[in-house]
Amino acid sequence: MSSTDRGAGPKRLVVLISGSGTNLQTLIDATRQGSINGRIVAVISNKPGVRGLERAQSADIPALTVDHRDFQRREDFDAALAEQIESHRADLVILAGFMRILTPGFVNRFAGRMMNIHPSLLPRYPGLDTHRRAIDAGDREAGATVHFVTEELDGGPAIVQARVPIHPDDTPATLAARVLEKEHLIYPYAVKLFCEGRLGLTGQGATLDGTLLPRTGLAYLDP
Ligand code: GRF
Repeated sequence: MSSTDRGAGPKRLVVLISGSGTNLQTLIDATRQGSINGRIVAVISNKPGVRGLERAQSADIPALTVDHRDFQRREDFDAALAEQIESHRADLVILAGFMRILTPGFVNRFAGRMMNIHPSLLPRYPGLDTHRRAIDAGDREAGATVHFVTEELDGGPAIVQARVPIHPDDTPATLAARVLEKEHLIYPYAVKLFCEGRLGLTGQGATLDGTLLPRTGLAYLDP
């Protein structure tokens, strides 16, 4: 049985965050409106007191903190995190501004059922400071990518990607705001596809309805 065919009911979603949680909010809204056949069963932050936890609480979603500073070894933090995720019987783990690098053991445990959003046109600019790097390189376009998480940092197969123009007077902050608007469209879209059982992860890449997606994922066009 693959990760995407565990019965037809709503999928159980666990969202991992580290901060403000605007992407989390769009997922809360989309699940509430019924446009995603899934339910967020827990939100977990590695940092206490962040805004995203308040968003979860306001929506009556269990909001937990697994503070990475309480663990000496990365493996121990990941084990505690995995235990929480499993205890909520997650079908899908959604990284939404989660700023910790995960160990290979953790990543492999959730292979094909963990996704991340990254604020660049992957494979360009994995890692941090993506907007400044795109501006400094003289790029004309930036964007965001939802991808399956694999051992390679920001390197897993892309699911969907949206593009925005870079304007001559852009700063990293103005560009980030333009990209974030797209993030708020493509993340609910990717999660919706997953919850419909339409996405898969194979050795060759991500699939939609069994067909291999291009390396940069589906090109998201505004509705
Ligand atoms: C987003 O830009 C996301 O792509 C990046 O971190 C930011 C999180 O924003 N990984 P938010 O917490 O969802 O508001």
